[in-house]
Amino acid sequence: SMSAGAQTLYEDRAKTITLVGGLTALAVGVYSARSATRVAGRVLERHLSRPPLVRETSRWSWRPQLSWLPGRGTSTNLFDKIVLEEALSERLQWSTNALLSAQQNGTPFRHLLLHGPPGTGKTLFARTLARQSGLDYAIMSGGDLGPLGRDGPNELHKLFEWAQRSRRGLVLFIDEADSFLRRGRGGEGTMGEDARNSLSVFLHHTGTESARVAVILATNVPTVLDRAVLDRVDEEFEFPRPAFEQRNQMLRLFIDQYLLRSSKGGKSLIEVDAALDDKFWEDWATWGICPGPPHPFPGKEPSSVLERWRRGATSLHQMTRRTFARGSNLSLATGAVG
Ligand SMILES: Nc1ncnc2c1ncn2[C@@H]1O[C@H](COP(=O)(O)OP(=O)(O)OP(=O)(O)O)[C@@H](O)[C@H]1O
Ligand SMILES: [Mg+2]
Repeated sequence: SMSAGAQTLYEDRAKTITLVGGLTALAVGVYSARSATRVAGRVLERHLSRPPLVRETSRWSWRPQLSWLPGRGTSTNLFDKIVLEEALSERLQWSTNALLSAQQNGTPFRHLLLHGPPGTGKTLFARTLARQSGLDYAIMSGGDLGPLGRDGPNELHKLFEWAQRSRRGLVLFIDEADSFLRRGRGGEGTMGEDARNSLSVFLHHTGTESARVAVILATNVPTVLDRAVLDRVDEEFEFPRPAFEQRNQMLRLFIDQYLLRSSKGGKSLIEVDAALDDKFWEDWATWGICPGPPHPFPGKEPSSVLERWRRGATSLHQMTRRTFARGSNLSLATGAVG
């Protein structure tokens, strides 16, 4: 006969299946509602023609103000998926709050500058902030101006005019800002005429305080930025290369995000072996993502290691998979669910 424990397990299982069924139905409903609004949004977008420089925007995409829809609302913590030193994340949180209260009070926005080596989370932070702020947002990259040639400055001008028409306020995130906001007016430097004109357009539109557009600039090389651009910046944030502790934290985050969490929604359930203890994580973070023999991260890293860290950060989940596959004494139990 069935033991009491197994009996409960069996009943719980039946309940779970019912619950899962219900959740799936709900998800399908939510999904179709969302995709319908997305289609409507795209149609609107096409007719209202957003500026070509905008890579991604919330504007003109009509979305229902239903806070129970997944992925909406400002309740989720901005730093859930961004690993930063505490002092930095506190400052960023403070500035985010200032942005939101400026929007509520109709006072001018402060402009921010994010700088630091590649792959340290600048774009990740700005995108997360833009998406979760509840303000409109638009994302552009300075690198997109070059290919526009002589149309560049005018397109930038149109982008600002468009942004200023946002009623609820807009976060304008300019990635790779150094590609056109560098020193080089008056002949110094090697900036082309089109880039110089784009710089002027930027300065023109940010010359007076604005309660409509909050600019966030990101760059690897803040030192080349034009003085007048730096004058427009109210706050600067340096994103340093992650220290050991942050790398360790990031690794756990990636594993949780890509390995454990994604497997729960899928067909297989992955259980991490007990051998993956603190010592293992530490070793992992010490080696960084460098394949082969351990490489001590701190100190002077050759640029190839930096480059590997950057690429590795972007696709760490793949690396994680590979490590699991390689570790001989580490087993990864994979079992089918249901
Ligand atoms: N601090 C971090 N916390 C969590 N994940 C991070 C962090 N930094 C980088 N990553 C991971 O690396 C990816 C690339 O980072 P991101 O694009 O934000 O770097 P970046 O600082 O903008 O680099 P670049 O200067 O080259 O533009 C992110 O999408 C994320 O997966
Ligand atoms: Mg970036």
